[in-house]
Amino acid sequence: RTTLPPPTPTRTNFLFSSNNVHSSIMVKAVVIGAAGGIGQPLSLLLKMSPLIDDLALYDVVNSKGVAADLSHIASPATVTGHLPADDGLKSALTGANIVVIPAGVPRKPGMTRDDLFKINAGIVRDLATGIAQNCPEAFILVISNPVNSTVPVVAEVLKKHNVFKPKRLFGVTTLDVVRASTFTAEVTSEGADPREFTIPVIGGHSGVTIIPLLSQSKPSVNLSQEQIEHLTNRVQFGGDEVVKAKDGAGSATLSMAFAGYKFAEAVLKAVKGESGIVEPSYVYLPGVPGGDEIAQSVGGVDFFSGLVELGADGAKKIRPLGNLSDYEKKLLDAALPELKGNIQKGVSFVTEGS
Ligand code: NAD
Ligand code: LMR
Repeated sequence: RTTLPPPTPTRTNFLFSSNNVHSSIMVKAVVIGAAGGIGQPLSLLLKMSPLIDDLALYDVVNSKGVAADLSHIASPATVTGHLPADDGLKSALTGANIVVIPAGVPRKPGMTRDDLFKINAGIVRDLATGIAQNCPEAFILVISNPVNSTVPVVAEVLKKHNVFKPKRLFGVTTLDVVRASTFTAEVTSEGADPREFTIPVIGGHSGVTIIPLLSQSKPSVNLSQEQIEHLTNRVQFGGDEVVKAKDGAGSATLSMAFAGYKFAEAVLKAVKGESGIVEPSYVYLPGVPGGDEIAQSVGGVDFFSGLVELGADGAKKIRPLGNLSDYEKKLLDAALPELKGNIQKGVSFVTEGS
């Protein structure tokens, strides 16, 4: 039997600068809210990922149990669990390269995502403070709702601490993209593989602010106006479909874990040197190349989900929206007032304390 020599990975504090792209770079990933409905399956997927070396799980309850459970899986990533006691947030976040945040309360039937703001904005603000103090270089992936407002909350906290790196802050809107592919495959042809459809979804992540660009589907799809309106509505209100079916037991968790992993994997692959990776994500437009053009074309919003090209330093550029159909232009007009209000609410929460 031949014994393989041990791998000789390198670890530095600045793993993700564009000068240091190398496939052997070590990655510490942190999940905050790791014991929750999304947190547990997302942590499972991250534990299975060959892209991750250390996985730290933080929650206010049961993170040690989830970590002990996952640590028995035969995959290379080491797993640790952290609770608020003993400065657990600090120990989880120190040395982190990527932090995924599915912490906070989910919806019940009859609620909007904005109804979660009161509780979740405070949770996200405190977690962002921890990130600013312990791992300001990390990529931050915000899942907690309402995403349209929680991402501005994180941005404002990071600004306050002078550590805001817009290219590294992402609102995760991948579930809308996943739904668009799945639902479109269902209506186009029997047996179509949803993975073969790439459909940009732009705007924000709540109801009418979610804008699927079916006219830009690849491969292109031939849909009647009735089908377009049905599909658009289903993508916009896909979250409500799950909330209703779960009947008080929460919102999408498993499909969100899939989507959250898909996006985290895209970020990490780009960091490790893979080029040409493009994923829709909700970002701070003035801080990402190409963002100013989009802000102008959509009437001056600071945060918007567009097609983000990922690179070693995060969001490398955001692509122009391309040609929108007349129907999609109307969707955009309908989305903007709500999106602007959501953004302002997140910003004021930090800047004015309300
Ligand atoms: P959940 O209640 O099952 O889990 C949330 C977890 O967060 C719990 O384990 C809880 O203990 C933990 N938590 C609460 N406060 C915390 C804090 N201060 N620090 C660390 N952990 C904390 O909820 P869920 O179903 O996993 O959903 C989580 C969030 O994700 C909700 O806000 C939900 O609306 C949102 N969500 C977003 C998307 C999206 O597309 N972006 C999709 C689905 C759900
Ligand atoms: C979703 O789109 O499924 C999530 O944002 C959860 C929700 O509240 O609908």
